[in-house]
Amino acid sequence: MGGICTACRLAERESCYGGTPIPVRSNRQWLFAKGVDGAVGPENFRWAESPVETPGEGQMLVRNLWLSFEPTQILSMAAAPEAGGYELGAPMPGLAASEVVESQLVPFRPGDLVYGFSRWEDYSVIDGTGYWGTMKIPTGISPRLAAGTLGITGLVAYFGVVEVGRPRPGETFVASAAAGGVGSVAVQVAKILGARTIGIAGGKEKVDWLRGEAGLDGAIDHRSEEVAKRLDELCPEGIDVYFDNVGGPLLDLALERLRPHGRVVLCGATSRYGRAGPPPGPQNYLQLIMVNGRMEGLLGKDFFDRFPEGMAALQSWLEAGKLHSKEDVVVSLEQAPAALARLFSGVNVGKQLLQISESPASS
Ligand SMILES: NC(=O)c1ccc[n+]([C@@H]2O[C@H](COP(=O)([O-])OP(=O)(O)OC[C@H]3O[C@@H](n4cnc5c(N)ncnc54)[C@H](OP(=O)(O)O)[C@@H]3O)[C@@H](O)[C@H]2O)c1
Repeated sequence: MGGICTACRLAERESCYGGTPIPVRSNRQWLFAKGVDGAVGPENFRWAESPVETPGEGQMLVRNLWLSFEPTQILSMAAAPEAGGYELGAPMPGLAASEVVESQLVPFRPGDLVYGFSRWEDYSVIDGTGYWGTMKIPTGISPRLAAGTLGITGLVAYFGVVEVGRPRPGETFVASAAAGGVGSVAVQVAKILGARTIGIAGGKEKVDWLRGEAGLDGAIDHRSEEVAKRLDELCPEGIDVYFDNVGGPLLDLALERLRPHGRVVLCGATSRYGRAGPPPGPQNYLQLIMVNGRMEGLLGKDFFDRFPEGMAALQSWLEAGKLHSKEDVVVSLEQAPAALARLFSGVNVGKQLLQISESPASS
């Protein structure tokens, strides 16, 4: 805490900011309370309130506006801290779009909108590091889009399709969790590149969106349809590119149908996250030999230097109406644990976001 503010004669940081009196700032936050053993539940989190911290040298204070949720967070909640797991008792880490309030970190200035690693709380002191560095949100992009379709989720989809899967016009492209955050962008990018595109997703609302607004050539509801039979109907010649978000039995079905020189993009394996023991290997991997196929892991952070290029491409398709942003928005910080759990029940339709606070009027 500082001393008495010369402008408003009140205790600095408790009741004034830069000489302008503002209400006392309390920081609402979710702490990581208990390691995950199985599913994510309310017992893994604890609600707390604490004073807003002061940023030191090389740090900045940000006001979190939008939180983004990732299925892989459950892996960090299950792992020991020395193995990269989250620290027990500390605020829950999470990706966020935020507004810089105070900065001792070049090149960030108060008022900047940023996207990067933050926490499940109103205000965070961050140093701009993480799995990748905090970035300024380009002018003209809203914090919501930066946390959603134009954030890591959309960028992984973009680079996974354009650089790893590389569907050619007329080829058959299939994705799992196709109406989720990554999947909803991946299938649309493949479509834009001219591929015949089929999405696999859970539930009527998702497949309706895939067939409707997303304009796919076909969609399969894995909850109500027999996926193998439907894949044979929709992909009679087989699959050229399979974009895998969930792993498990769907991956096997896709491998079985892989065409000569087919590609499998390993983006994620949500069906395995949180489960005990090593994941079983795919049964049908020998098909890769038979068709000279390729299965390649995709790591979004490898493309960090090219994020602006990916954002610009996605943004131009959004503006042209070729790409439709699909986001599932939950409002208020209190809902953060429930928002994360939605990814594993499959309730989310599109990218799971949470709005903590109104964005600045200027953004
Ligand atoms: N490689 C990278 O750099 C990178 C970066 C970001 C994300 N990812 C990965 O991309 C994948 C998608 O992430 P996202 O954020 O877009 O999540 P998401 O797909 O929006 O949400 C998860 C979806 O997975 C499906 N699902 C959940 N539990 C499942 C289960 N037990 N079996 C089968 N499907 C299940 C559900 O979709 P349905 O109901 O439609 O099946 C659910 O809606 C994740 O595996 C994530 O780890 C990878």
